[in-house]
Amino acid sequence: MKNYIKIEKKIKCFNKKIFVSGDKSISIRCVLLASQAIGKSRIYNLLDSEDVISSLNAVKKLGINFKKFKDFYEIYGYGLNGYKTKRKITINAGNSGTLARLILGLLVNSENEVKLVGDKSLSKRDFLRVREPLERFGAKLNSKKNRLPLKITGTNYLRPIKYFEKLGSAQCKSSAMLAAIKTPGITSIVAKKSRNHTELLFKNLNIPIKIIQKRNYDYIEIKGQSNFKGFNYKIPGDISSCSFFLVLTLLSYKSKLIIKDVNINKTRTGIITILNKMNANILLKNKRKYKGELISDILVKSSDQIKAINCNQNLNSSAIDEFLVIFLVAARAEGISKFYNLSELNKKESPRLDIAISFLKKIGIKVLRNNNDIKIFGNPELRLNGKYVIKDFKKDHRVFMMSCIAALVFGGKWEIHDKDSINTSFPKFFNIIKKLGGKLN
Ligand code: S3P
Repeated sequence: MKNYIKIEKKIKCFNKKIFVSGDKSISIRCVLLASQAIGKSRIYNLLDSEDVISSLNAVKKLGINFKKFKDFYEIYGYGLNGYKTKRKITINAGNSGTLARLILGLLVNSENEVKLVGDKSLSKRDFLRVREPLERFGAKLNSKKNRLPLKITGTNYLRPIKYFEKLGSAQCKSSAMLAAIKTPGITSIVAKKSRNHTELLFKNLNIPIKIIQKRNYDYIEIKGQSNFKGFNYKIPGDISSCSFFLVLTLLSYKSKLIIKDVNINKTRTGIITILNKMNANILLKNKRKYKGELISDILVKSSDQIKAINCNQNLNSSAIDEFLVIFLVAARAEGISKFYNLSELNKKESPRLDIAISFLKKIGIKVLRNNNDIKIFGNPELRLNGKYVIKDFKKDHRVFMMSCIAALVFGGKWEIHDKDSINTSFPKFFNIIKKLGGKLN
């Protein structure tokens, strides 16, 4: 079966209301925490994507059962010491860096060795960033060049650590936080700002946690070995999935879109701040709180006068998964947009900074790079009519979806490969594009 799609027509104007799928970060965290709770948890609107299925299969390997119902999943935990790690099990994290790094935190006390493997893209990613803190708790991690496959053996003699997380990586912070709940005593973490879903879930589950928020860092203390009960949770919509439609609407002609029930936790809304600074008019309606997370409906309209941005690097972490689509907006902006210190972009499912630069050049946009800073020379008249083949992007789901949005707003004849990559995070992507009137072949 062919694994590419063709897009040969721009999208026409639309005026619709949509829902995006459940948030991937919160879905994976809910599966992992439910697997460590005592008793039954019910998770509604769990994202049905490969990364989350890998998470369910991972906890299953550790002796945790789950059941799928029409509207929710039930997961049955046995508490903090409830994993059964038979000899020689292998956990396959697929494409998911979040699952791989977070589950290692939960394996710091595993009796037997567990082998962690992943797909080709995940096997190229760095694990030293979690190995260092987890070894200080007392676990042993073994791998060649700090890449997968990796073997972890836990210990009964865990000791709390003081950890300085300086990359602004929520995966590293959360991995250490999950190790901390297994560990006697108080673990202290000073973490550069990053998404805080793990912290909010801990608070909600009454896991003893103290947080002092400073301007650029959070000071976190966790008292370990406190069991918690099974819980109910309804996962809100994923702003990272929503971002493709924000940009699609913004760059389309006379269109309007309402996206319902999206998580707008401020550690995730960098894209809204950035796009509004570029003269978008994105409004948050019907804001409400759910178990510590902020949720709202998002209203976005087309904008024909987009301005360039000088993007403050303090926004990098809260927009980290959205830069690919933000660059499309910069390509259409009046003026030169500047982005700084994007080294973490090259550490994702593919080297996204390198890929974005060659993509922009391919569609005729001038880009200058200085190490990890880039300048994008926008062209408000950008209209394409050539032929564009997009492949060899390491099956990165976000590169695929960004390419579809470019094809739908800029025109030209496109052939975009590895369409199954959307299954990683957003299997419903095509359904929504079609609902808005996009023509895909
Ligand atoms: C995630 C954190 C981010 C993000 C990833 C999901 C998470 O990675 O890019 O898609 O759920 O914690 P880093 O923590 O490596 O920045």
